Amino acid sequence: MKSPFVICGATGNVGSKVAGALLAAGEPVRGIARERVRLGPLAARGAEPFPGDIGDAKFLSKAFTGARAVFVMLPTSFNVSDMREYQDRLGESLVSALSDARVPRVVTLSSVGAHLSRGTGPILGLHGLETKIDTLTATAAMHLRPGYFMENHLFSLPVLRERGINGSPIRPDAQIPMVATKDIADVAARLLRDETFTGRAVRYLLGPRDLTMSEATRILGQAIGRPDLKYVQFSEEEARKAMTGMGMSESAVDAMLEMDRGFNEGTIRSTRERNAESTTPTTLEEFAKTVFAHAYRAAA
Ligand SMILES: NC(=O)c1ccc[n+]([C@@H]2O[C@H](COP(=O)([O-])OP(=O)(O)OC[C@H]3O[C@@H](n4cnc5c(N)ncnc54)[C@H](OP(=O)(O)O)[C@@H]3O)[C@@H](O)[C@H]2O)c1
Repeated sequence: MKSPFVICGATGNVGSKVAGALLAAGEPVRGIARERVRLGPLAARGAEPFPGDIGDAKFLSKAFTGARAVFVMLPTSFNVSDMREYQDRLGESLVSALSDARVPRVVTLSSVGAHLSRGTGPILGLHGLETKIDTLTATAAMHLRPGYFMENHLFSLPVLRERGINGSPIRPDAQIPMVATKDIADVAARLLRDETFTGRAVRYLLGPRDLTMSEATRILGQAIGRPDLKYVQFSEEEARKAMTGMGMSESAVDAMLEMDRGFNEGTIRSTRERNAESTTPTTLEEFAKTVFAHAYRAAA
């Protein structure tokens, strides 16, 4: 039997699609998430469910043992009292397990802005993860640095329904690369199967073009029959109140606001010129029609 690809976050936005792409290619997959029941749909497609906590290095070493390659991601928790401590602890666990299990190749879900060592909120955890993985001498590493997930727009559905607007603390005119998680997963699955990559490298994944929140709102509005949909930049106080009301910890709210500032100031961005390799195919128009409009109708 062929040794499996191990996928962290196998029930999440990106991990579930990486696992799906590998299964569709006939590859063996071991999927990690916290609960067996949530791994059920992947198991039904032939994956080996491997439930457990990424913060538990012993469990992870077992999960990574015998892997052909591993897809790692750093889960975000919005209710922990100290987001940095949480991210660092999970990052340490991932790296220690990669080392213990002598994993030959790893593909990391990182982010634009991961080159920076401050001022990026949750992306700082990914900077730390990349840095730690780079110390592993026996593991070849490819760090994927995608832009803003198109799926983030789904978080706007409640405000869209309740107030008839789209909004966030990000400036309406900030240029942001927006990428579909499906495209990230396709690249990750291809790289996991590519036995030729060695050393360590970074690859940006930036969607077809940069977009502003105003442009994105017009595209999303058109897809749901609301071509007049407006984008409003919320003040930090307004956003803080809303996020706290959703049960987010102060540490998580601080981190998210810091990240939004990074987008506004243009510091969270690709360090390279866009090129064919970093440009991914799914347009926001396509995402809006196939995913966003469907979710909007389902939430009605
Ligand atoms: N959103 C963006 O615009 C953006 C852009 C660039 C990079 N990123 C990065 O992408 C990552 C998020 O990726 P995503 O959206 O695919 O994730 P997601 O949809 O939030 O899914 C998180 C995954 O991690 C699993 N998980 C959570 N806590 C866990 C734990 N303690 N132990 C084991 N599994 C755990 C979840 O499974 P269960 O809940 O089933 O356990 C789920 O499979 C973050 O690191 C984020 O910084 C995000």
